[in-house]
Amino acid sequence: MPHPYVLLSAAVSLDGYLDDTGPERLLLSGPADFDRVDEVRAGVDAILVGAGTIRADNPRLLVNSPERRAARVGAGRPEYPLKVTVSGSGDLDPAARFWHTGGEKVLYTTDRGAGRARALGLAADVVPLGPELGWRPLLEHLHTVRGVRRLMVEGGGQVHTQLLTQGLADELQLVLAPLFVGDPDAPRLFGPGSYQGGRLRLAETRQVGDVVLTRYEPTAPGTGTLPAAADHHWLALACELATRCPPSTTAFSVGAVVVAADGTELARGYSREGADPVVHAEEAALAKVGPTDPRLATATVYSSLEPCARRASRPAPCARLILDTGVRRVVTAWREPDTFVPGADGSGVLAGAGAAVVLLPEHEERAKAPNGHLISG
Ligand SMILES: NC(=O)c1ccc[n+]([C@@H]2O[C@H](COP(=O)([O-])OP(=O)(O)OC[C@H]3O[C@@H](n4cnc5c(N)ncnc54)[C@H](OP(=O)(O)O)[C@@H]3O)[C@@H](O)[C@H]2O)c1
Ligand SMILES: [Zn+2]
Repeated sequence: MPHPYVLLSAAVSLDGYLDDTGPERLLLSGPADFDRVDEVRAGVDAILVGAGTIRADNPRLLVNSPERRAARVGAGRPEYPLKVTVSGSGDLDPAARFWHTGGEKVLYTTDRGAGRARALGLAADVVPLGPELGWRPLLEHLHTVRGVRRLMVEGGGQVHTQLLTQGLADELQLVLAPLFVGDPDAPRLFGPGSYQGGRLRLAETRQVGDVVLTRYEPTAPGTGTLPAAADHHWLALACELATRCPPSTTAFSVGAVVVAADGTELARGYSREGADPVVHAEEAALAKVGPTDPRLATATVYSSLEPCARRASRPAPCARLILDTGVRRVVTAWREPDTFVPGADGSGVLAGAGAAVVLLPEHEERAKAPNGHLISG
């Protein structure tokens, strides 16, 4: 069953607490890290917090930068990520900021909690998931009904602990703040539980102001290590974008996503997107990334069809465009058939220039699906 890519984000004190026990939220990270979080938020489809976090912190969970919001809108996405919360009880304050700021909201709850939530008149789509709230049904619903491909989870401890112990987290972004809480009654980030997968893979450490960001890739049971899981996730998204292309009898329908090394989506695109009847998917996506963006050098281009090596409609084929941006990693589902350009070998062009090209044939059928009329036989 499809799930979104799940990114857990949290800040902790040096002694491992998420907050103190005072009435005000403890500020663990500083302005530079809040800005980093804002950027991560801008790159996701949805942000989730538990009901406990709404009660304790009354957060807004917005993308605060107008430029980042404008970039989302420019890329055809909603101005704000969907806001998601979970509550078994349905007992939430209808006046909380969560409901009255930003874009759409969803509350996942139990059958019992749905009655309570509706009686309270919470300004959200209330989705009961049965007598109990299960994380897998929740993630499937977010993916299939809400179209969420990338989910950021911003706490609290109960939610993080469940997602990690159930093997549902693809990435953990943990900020260590230089202060102590020292109160045993304060909430911890991770509670007791059966943590699977042993040691997490350390993907990155970065100083942000006076805090340190560490990014880990937990190994979800059954999905292998994250790099592979992430490649499948983004390539599946590229294949899905391919289904949005205006139909054509003279060109393939292709989807593409450009993803930074830290897992941030930089841009997405598909063939003949917008008003351009000949634009290719990779070209459309790359055009949305600033040409001097330093993240391009370590980014990956995911494309449902291998980037073209030659094309009639534009002087530069996509393999060349990709190389010119500095990108040196491409993941694709399907080698180009001889339909339009016999012997096209975009992968060869890329590899010849030193780029890594990864073919994941598990996705080939999905990449072909919107092109059935071009490849009969
Ligand atoms: N430092 C940070 O980065 C950070 C981030 C976020 C939060 N925090 C802190 O974390 C604290 C809150 O964390 P928390 O662990 O108490 O709360 P939480 O994880 O935000 O929310 C827990 C609540 O979510 C609902 N829930 C979670 N899993 C469920 C399930 N499987 N089925 C049904 N309902 C479920 C329940 O709501 P009901 O009770 O309504 O049934 C539960 O009480 C606050 O002090 C906050 O300041 C810190
Ligand atoms: Zn192309």
